[in-house]
Amino acid sequence: NQLHQFLHALPKCEHHVHIEGTISPELLFNLASRNKISLPMDDSAFESPATLRARYDKFTSLDDFLHYYFIGFSVLLEASDFEALTYDYLSLAYSQGVHHAEIFFDPQAHVLRGVAYQTIISGLNAAKQRAQRDFPKLSVEFIPCLLRHLPVPSGHGMLAELLETGHFFDGTLVGFGMSSTELEMHPSLYKEIYEAARAAGVANLTAHYGEEGPPDYVKDALSLLGVRRIDHGRRSAEDEELIAQLADTGTMLTLCPLSNVVLKGVESMQELPIRRFLDANVRFSINSDDPAYFGGYVLENYCAVQEAFGLSVDDWGKIARGAITGSWCSHTRKEQLL
Ligand code: HPA
Ligand code: ZN
Repeated sequence: NQLHQFLHALPKCEHHVHIEGTISPELLFNLASRNKISLPMDDSAFESPATLRARYDKFTSLDDFLHYYFIGFSVLLEASDFEALTYDYLSLAYSQGVHHAEIFFDPQAHVLRGVAYQTIISGLNAAKQRAQRDFPKLSVEFIPCLLRHLPVPSGHGMLAELLETGHFFDGTLVGFGMSSTELEMHPSLYKEIYEAARAAGVANLTAHYGEEGPPDYVKDALSLLGVRRIDHGRRSAEDEELIAQLADTGTMLTLCPLSNVVLKGVESMQELPIRRFLDANVRFSINSDDPAYFGGYVLENYCAVQEAFGLSVDDWGKIARGAITGSWCSHTRKEQLL
């Protein structure tokens, strides 16, 4: 397609990538061996990187993917593992024209299996320093995500630990989010946690909703949690009132097109409400989510959207500008990105 060169050159922002979702099956097996982590013996998907990759083609839902995602990231142990993973992601993203990356990570699950928060963040920070030195046009931020499959009190504990580090206020962490299983995990369950984050002065709040869950989850996340952004938010398109609200408030949705197709949220890319959001002036960015699992990084997501919707250069300009202005970086940095 004609626009692929253009899409490659377009300065892009990524707002929705889980660093743990960038482990390739090959790296997963290498790290399991080096770190002496045993993979499940009773699941034939774990026979080899090839069988594991083949299993990824058969995901049936978010929860089916999450099962593999959490096993996969249990091979990460040392700060150097987190550093290598993050640096490799950043250099690949930069080669695709990503100039600003906001990276999610899941401290709660790592801490629960004995990897200290300080180990994770020192690896992430080392990669950020190295990448920003090697790739002068790149800026990098980190966002911890609470995990909804774990008990709510565990989430409270994680937030308290994060607040104690002071990392929300020294530039280490740019915001606070929430992910993992969605259905039955209504925003009201997390109201106190988000209130505590806001009370402590954490302004940039986000949460995964509207990936599998209904538009009401998105509405309630906005009103009960005070989030300024919605990760995925795809199903917001089913509610006219919500569409208008998102447009009026400039709330950004961090869409992940290949993820939605691979996890069977939609049958095909064409079903995604890309045109609807553009026409209604709902701001969104296009992201990879878990690129090692879903068959593509940012550029492949942009190109897949282009294949499905045949957007114009003007449409892409609007998407790219919306992603920049919706980024969690300084005004000065936004000016540079624009
Ligand atoms: N949704 C929810 N949780 C996740 C995802 C996702 O797309 N990726 C990694 N954790
Ligand atoms: Zn996600």
